[in-house]
Amino acid sequence: MGIGYRVFVRPMIRVQDSEKAHARALLMLRFLSSNPISRSILSLLYRPRKKIPIQCFGQTYQHPFGNAAGLDKRAEGLRGWEAIGLSFIEIGGITEHEQKGNPKPRMFRATPSRALINRMGFNNPGSQKVALKLEQHFGKFGSPSVPLWANLGKSKITPLEDAPNDYAQTMERLWNYCDVFVINVSSPNTPNLRELQHDEALESIIKSCQQVNQNKASSSNLKVKPLLIKIAPDLSDEQLAAVVNTARRAGCDGIIATNTTVERPDNFSKSEAKIFAETGGLSGAPLAKRSTDMIHQIYSMTKGEWPIVGVGGIQTADDAWEKIGAGASLLQAYSGFVFEGAGLTRSIINGLDKKMKEEGYSTLQEAIGFAHQ
Ligand SMILES: Cc1cc2nc3c(=O)[nH]c(=O)nc-3n(C[C@H](O)[C@H](O)[C@H](O)COP(=O)(O)O)c2cc1C
Repeated sequence: MGIGYRVFVRPMIRVQDSEKAHARALLMLRFLSSNPISRSILSLLYRPRKKIPIQCFGQTYQHPFGNAAGLDKRAEGLRGWEAIGLSFIEIGGITEHEQKGNPKPRMFRATPSRALINRMGFNNPGSQKVALKLEQHFGKFGSPSVPLWANLGKSKITPLEDAPNDYAQTMERLWNYCDVFVINVSSPNTPNLRELQHDEALESIIKSCQQVNQNKASSSNLKVKPLLIKIAPDLSDEQLAAVVNTARRAGCDGIIATNTTVERPDNFSKSEAKIFAETGGLSGAPLAKRSTDMIHQIYSMTKGEWPIVGVGGIQTADDAWEKIGAGASLLQAYSGFVFEGAGLTRSIINGLDKKMKEEGYSTLQEAIGFAHQ
């Protein structure tokens, strides 16, 4: 973490409402990245100097680390994320229809545990407005220099049985702009959403998204784009196996493990009891082990043949290395940015580079799944 962040920014954030602090940080990132001089300063301060290239989904990533969904729901900070050196950017969750999300407050920090609880409920401008925003952005600045991922959620007003259309419509509207699509059926904050992780429901969502994918690809003479599924850490072993089998069979190109959990840590300080009693999904350090365990399971189940994106509690290079060892090819974080600031990417990439040298790996590809050997 940068000394500036530790001394000035973090103490200020601590006394602010979590959602407001997040909005201000994003505004600051947008502001600083809108001007060539401050954008260069951002890059100088935060962009990793080391490269750890990795091929995934037929694309080249400069290193394995990007932001997790939820951090930029409205696609506002694209140039900022690029400037601070993320190797890919995930926008959203985006739903077909615009929605306000749950009443505030809906995001809470448990700083001693380095954890967050949120029940945002997919607040977002909806697929039409996000597509328009991307069209304008691409028109003005061109496409981002790193792969742009879109996280697709289900609109609250859409009944579960109409979910395939809701996801497919959003994918259709965003297809021209985004490089990878993520079907999110694992947020705990949209009523009954997680039921969509089950067999037929999941299969029909994937199939309707793949239909859009194929139609758009053939009408624009391009390749189909990678489609991933994002799962909850609260699935049982049997449920996890079923989701993986269904998603692979239906044509998903990989999996993101994991979203937030409805579980709570066993131990926490007295001052955090009120926070952990809030309804919502838990992210951050207490999620790390569960998400890594699931990555291990998926990697074993799929013999390392199906790309896994690891997310959940990554706040240090050690956390990131554990997920690589478990079998993740790419990594993401949300809470880590809240507690560590914009310096997170550089510190993780420097740390991974060091680990690879210590352990004698010349490429990251060789290291993926090392804990299984
Ligand atoms: C405030 C907040 C909003 C989130 N919104 C989304 C979302 O819209 N879609 C999604 O798939 N995940 C969402 N997530 C989950 C994160 O992408 C990530 O999976 C989870 O926070 C675990 O990673 P972390 O421990 O690094 O935070 C959200 C998380 C937080 C804290």
